[in-house]
Amino acid sequence: MENQIIKDLNWRYTTKMYDETKRISTEDMQVIKEALRMSASSINSQPWKFVVIESDEAKQRFSKTFENNFQFNQHHATKASHCILFGNKTHYTKEDYKKVVDVEVSSGHLPQERAEDMLNGAFAFAELNSDENGFNGNWTKAQTYIALGNLLHTLTRLGIDSTPMEGVDSKAIGEIFAKEFEGYECTFAIAMGYHKKSEDYNFGLPKARLAQKDIIEVL
Ligand SMILES: Cc1cc2nc3c(=O)[nH]c(=O)nc-3n(C[C@H](O)[C@H](O)[C@H](O)COP(=O)(O)O)c2cc1C
Repeated sequence: MENQIIKDLNWRYTTKMYDETKRISTEDMQVIKEALRMSASSINSQPWKFVVIESDEAKQRFSKTFENNFQFNQHHATKASHCILFGNKTHYTKEDYKKVVDVEVSSGHLPQERAEDMLNGAFAFAELNSDENGFNGNWTKAQTYIALGNLLHTLTRLGIDSTPMEGVDSKAIGEIFAKEFEGYECTFAIAMGYHKKSEDYNFGLPKARLAQKDIIEVL
């Protein structure tokens, strides 16, 4: 298909080896961070935190989280230009949502007189997805995956390679990044940078996707 979006989606692929000498520019990192911030979420909840692994010290810390599990992804921690750890709140509260409603008002998006209705009405979506202990991590994680999808496409448009990773040790991340992820869980991450052609077995392979007729029904 000639469409540029489809060409881009064919261009992107999961990189298996990064060229550690190549770095994402500061300008592109600004775009990446802003794209994350602009991600959509249910009731505009934004129940996430993104920890950007940029310094050598942070890379060493991230690398350490792979000591016991998912070692096949470990090299990305130090070889990729940057990684991002995606955290989602485990107990998203009305106080959390109040901050969003305040921004809705201060940005001019929502009239002040509708703020209280919004706070109580829309938060029902969070309550619907919370258990008796206030755990709503499944719902907040679903929102956070939207940011991952948004980022994958953003990186494609920037011409930056990436590796989404569920192969991360959530428990170890929770320990080693305890301060950064207090109140959050991190169950997936992304590595970003530029592939090392000679060692990346995934580069240039054809896409393997189910046929439209198997997954899409137009009524
Ligand atoms: C949420 C998610 C988690 C993934 N986890 C890993 C991972 O831990 N390690 C890895 O090498 N690839 C991982 N992948 C890559 C997928 O295997 C890959 O996207 C899929 O096979 C399609 O190939 P493509 O991305 O090259 O088009 C993950 C992809 C997604 C979307």
